[in-house]
Amino acid sequence: MISKTLKADMEGSSGTRKVYEEGLKLKKLHGEDKVVDFSLGNPVLEPPEEFNKILSDMISKDVKGVHRYMPNAGHKEVRDSVAYHLDKKGYLPGVTGDHVCMTVGAAGALNIIFKTILNKGEEVITINPHFQEYTFHIKNHQGEEVMVNTLEDYTLDLKAISKKITSKTKAILLNTPNNPTGVMYSKESLEELASILREKEHKLKKQIYLVSDEPYREMVYEGKFTSPASIYDNSFIVYSWSKSLSLPGERTGYAAVNPKMKYEEDMIKGLAFSNKILGFVSAPAMIQFVLPKILNTEIEEKYYSYMRDYYKSMHRPLEKCLSESGYEFPKPKGAFFFWAKCLGSNKNALEREKDFIEDAKDNFLTMLVPGSAFGKAGWFRISYASNLEVVNRGCERLAKIAEKYKTSKPKTLKRDRKEPEHCECCMTPVDNRPMDHYCDESSEKSQEFDEH
Ligand SMILES: Cc1ncc(COP(=O)(O)O)c(C=O)c1O
Repeated sequence: MISKTLKADMEGSSGTRKVYEEGLKLKKLHGEDKVVDFSLGNPVLEPPEEFNKILSDMISKDVKGVHRYMPNAGHKEVRDSVAYHLDKKGYLPGVTGDHVCMTVGAAGALNIIFKTILNKGEEVITINPHFQEYTFHIKNHQGEEVMVNTLEDYTLDLKAISKKITSKTKAILLNTPNNPTGVMYSKESLEELASILREKEHKLKKQIYLVSDEPYREMVYEGKFTSPASIYDNSFIVYSWSKSLSLPGERTGYAAVNPKMKYEEDMIKGLAFSNKILGFVSAPAMIQFVLPKILNTEIEEKYYSYMRDYYKSMHRPLEKCLSESGYEFPKPKGAFFFWAKCLGSNKNALEREKDFIEDAKDNFLTMLVPGSAFGKAGWFRISYASNLEVVNRGCERLAKIAEKYKTSKPKTLKRDRKEPEHCECCMTPVDNRPMDHYCDESSEKSQEFDEH
């Protein structure tokens, strides 16, 4: 028997994978070209040509030692080249290779950071909506997640964040540009957040860490990316090349410690140790030999620019289609997602979402990920880590769906109405909602989102 906790977690975690798997079934049934799959953020782009060449040279020339164990933090050369990059770009000034721990993707980096910093019951603030796995990465290490909703435009609600910082707060986790909304936080809002955190540290006489998860920072289409870690001393950067070099299956990323962090040496040792005891041991070996030959070279810059142009070519038609069809959505500045409001007249956000997502799937063969998978019911996410053909087909379908909702009132599907297990506004498990549950604090906000 699997553990009860895991079973409950598995049942609660519907989300992206489920939609993707349903999409695969539909493709088998109707044909690949009939289904529009907007589910996974799994880049179809190939990595830089040079990546494959360097890798195949390494194999064919029979270079010795590339498959061996190594220090838990990774090989020195790749850590140095990551540090050079972070320093040069201003994301983490003054950082050295000693501050970098190579990891099994960004997910591995988040897990070693939480393993390193969390004592049982300590709280991590997350910004809602967010990448669904955050909840588990925190829970894996006995932390408590405290979700704070964004403002209506999906930017940081600094007042609400400030209110949630208590003596139990250990860290705040940010993701910019954001999955699922594509929103990027401004330098000014990050500076304000940093000053709130410093004030709270002073008042509460403790360190509060800022964890900046930024795997989409190379995919910015409007404005300039600022790393939250560059503004606040007690901070970490989490990164991977899953999206930027289209290498998600190679599972390689890193956690970097701000050199100005208090007790930074302990932290670095803690990360390496956590990498070992969580069973990762180290990041995959061969990729670590390839990366230094790509990072900080023309290959890297050329690829990022090609990759941005590629995604922009899909971003534009989607933006045009969504806005001409009357969908409500925040303008994304980065990543490869659109986040839009489900159509329909049902006042209950979760029901409206279910009806809309099912309608798109069953009647338009269009796979959308429900907002509730990211913590906010009544919305949906489109991932366009795909190709222009799928996007163009998807635009036609989205327009047709909108047309249907304009001309008729699609019927609300009848379901047995069970007591909700999660708050329908922010998806906090009902049983875990604190007395001062944030969604209930502002009736104005509740009305805006008509979720309660
Ligand atoms: C915001 C965010 N963080 C972390 C990850 C995990 O990335 P990785 O595949 O490098 O583990 C993802 C993956 O989609 C993501 O969207």
